[in-house]
Amino acid sequence: MVSSSPEIVYDNDDIVFQYKSGRKLVDDESVAYILPSDATEVKRLELNHNLWKMILDGLYKSSVHESLVEGITILDVGCGPGFWIRDMAILYPNSKFIGIDMADVFITKDLPPNVEFQIINAAMGLPFQDESFDFVFQRFLVMGFPTDTYKQSIKEMKRVLKPNGAIEILELVNHYTNPSPALTKISGWRMDSFIGDKISSFLKDASFQQIRDINYNVPIGEWGGEPGKLYLAIQRLALPAVGIMVIQLTSVTEEEYQETLKEAFSAANQFQSSTRFRLVYAKK
Ligand SMILES: C[S@@+](CC[C@H](N)C(=O)[O-])C[C@H]1O[C@@H](n2cnc3c(N)ncnc32)[C@H](O)[C@@H]1O
Repeated sequence: MVSSSPEIVYDNDDIVFQYKSGRKLVDDESVAYILPSDATEVKRLELNHNLWKMILDGLYKSSVHESLVEGITILDVGCGPGFWIRDMAILYPNSKFIGIDMADVFITKDLPPNVEFQIINAAMGLPFQDESFDFVFQRFLVMGFPTDTYKQSIKEMKRVLKPNGAIEILELVNHYTNPSPALTKISGWRMDSFIGDKISSFLKDASFQQIRDINYNVPIGEWGGEPGKLYLAIQRLALPAVGIMVIQLTSVTEEEYQETLKEAFSAANQFQSSTRFRLVYAKK
């Protein structure tokens, strides 16, 4: 629903978005997310989805293949457009997939019938009964949930999981390996934290079992072959978008941000920089 002002958009009755520098950004006290929710971001998330399929050589790490073939119920928290859900649902037609996101960016094309999307602010809890799902998945919410919300979200995911259900979380860590000076500067300006490094301890605190924690170093630039080139393209879309809020919330100027970005992109190859990610999976 679009309000009388073309600059203000309501995706549902609760969440307000505003256009800033031509990008649709959430502007609502109840959501801390800093990336846009628009067509350019959907494109970036599609590239990102393809990157992770390449890195994992698949879509997930948990031991759930046989259950998925038989037919189980899966929740994807902060699913974005739903590229992961779409691929999973095509692969496992006997299983039912529910994707929730605070923004209506859901893909509508080529969706199999075993997919359902709902607009939900997951920071307010998960509006599902206890023990509703066999597998709960969450990817790249680190820029959406402050630490306390993140911890709370893990407890909520546990609540809605059936006994012995599987949880899988993939997150970026705000840390570059071999950064150029420009990349170090950018990393200092970003507001996301080291939540990725704390996920296994959050799962432990929530009494999850059989916790596995894998570190990935994803290369930025040609030195890293196909994944490196793809990840550089993703960074070229992500970092200008993050910059809108950085410039608004800090003393960094537009010129300084743009100049530093340019330096960072051209130096990534020379420095052989990479970004750290963590994939953590466990059982209830
Ligand atoms: C970086 S995107 C990742 C999307 C998807 N998980 C993927 O891997 O492609 C993060 C998503 O989290 C959503 N998000 C952020 N805060 C949220 C909240 N409080 N409740 C529900 N979704 C949220 C955003 O709208 C966005 O679609």
